[in-house]
Amino acid sequence: MGEGDACVKAIRFCSTILMRWEVLVLGCPEDLLSLATTYVDNAYAPYSGYRVVAVLRDVHDRVFVGVNVENPSYGLTVCAERVALFSAVTAGARRFKEILVYTSKPPPPIPCGACLQALSAFDEGGLRVYVHVGGGLCESFALAELLPRPFRL
Ligand code: THU
Repeated sequence: MGEGDACVKAIRFCSTILMRWEVLVLGCPEDLLSLATTYVDNAYAPYSGYRVVAVLRDVHDRVFVGVNVENPSYGLTVCAERVALFSAVTAGARRFKEILVYTSKPPPPIPCGACLQALSAFDEGGLRVYVHVGGGLCESFALAELLPRPFRL
């Protein structure tokens, strides 16, 4: 391994530690977490049993909630993130600060590729994604970290 590779590895390691540290210190936004726990029972997930809530905050501090809605024709299922986003856009919201994705049991609900692409259309570079499993740690990512090269027209 060359010196350059070792340096890149060291930088990656440090940035991972810093990101995890930020999570431990800051945690998830409490108001979004409280809404998520209120809504989790409204998730409609009779097939997977995996209930998800997404709470999206726009730049005017308006908050929009979505739950996953499953369907017997499995492919029609819509994730909580897109339900929240489409509801927000319907209400006229266009610019967002953060989204919290919550589930009460593992695995952590890292947004799927389709939801990341949908959210990225409304990201001006600062959209933060919090991922929380009830009772566990809150993880925090920049949307661009999860989807670095979204499709754009
Ligand atoms: N799901 C979400 O709603 N959001 C995620 O971030 C991950 C997956 C839903 C879709 C489906 O209803 C269930 O979780 C299992 O995939």
